[in-house]
Amino acid sequence: MARVDYSELSRVIASLTEGETDTVALMATLACEIHHADDRFDWTGFYRVVAPEVLKIGPYQGGHGCLVIPFVRGVCGACARTGEAQIVADVEAFPGHIACSSSTRSELVLPVRNGAGVLLGVLDIDSDRAVAFDEADAGALQAILDRVFEDCAE
Ligand code: SME
Repeated sequence: MARVDYSELSRVIASLTEGETDTVALMATLACEIHHADDRFDWTGFYRVVAPEVLKIGPYQGGHGCLVIPFVRGVCGACARTGEAQIVADVEAFPGHIACSSSTRSELVLPVRNGAGVLLGVLDIDSDRAVAFDEADAGALQAILDRVFEDCAE
């Protein structure tokens, strides 16, 4: 499979999600479309903010993921805590990385916010390839997330 065409992916996601504001339905749709868009993506899913400083697994594609992540732990917690994208070239070098699969080598985690800036959760993509993600991936996927979840309630 060739590298994802983000303009095409954005177009497909926009058509599939037009008018939808249910967060879980949107997460399920995006996990599917993003996961199948590029064979670098070996695990693609969401963790939702379910309580102060607590993430809980949401819709995903790939092997099982851990159910609960406090903001103080893991790459997902770092993203939720800081509100910043986490582009991890080597998960072994990330302090406190949570390994849901022993084959994961690199990871991208992005914040999911609504139009009011409320953190709804994070998008987590794992790859079995080292250094699989770059700023172009982060920027394109963040633009998709910002548009899709803009009208979602917290
Ligand atoms: N690696 C993540 C945990 C989620 S599993 O990868 C699906 C982390 O360190 O937060």
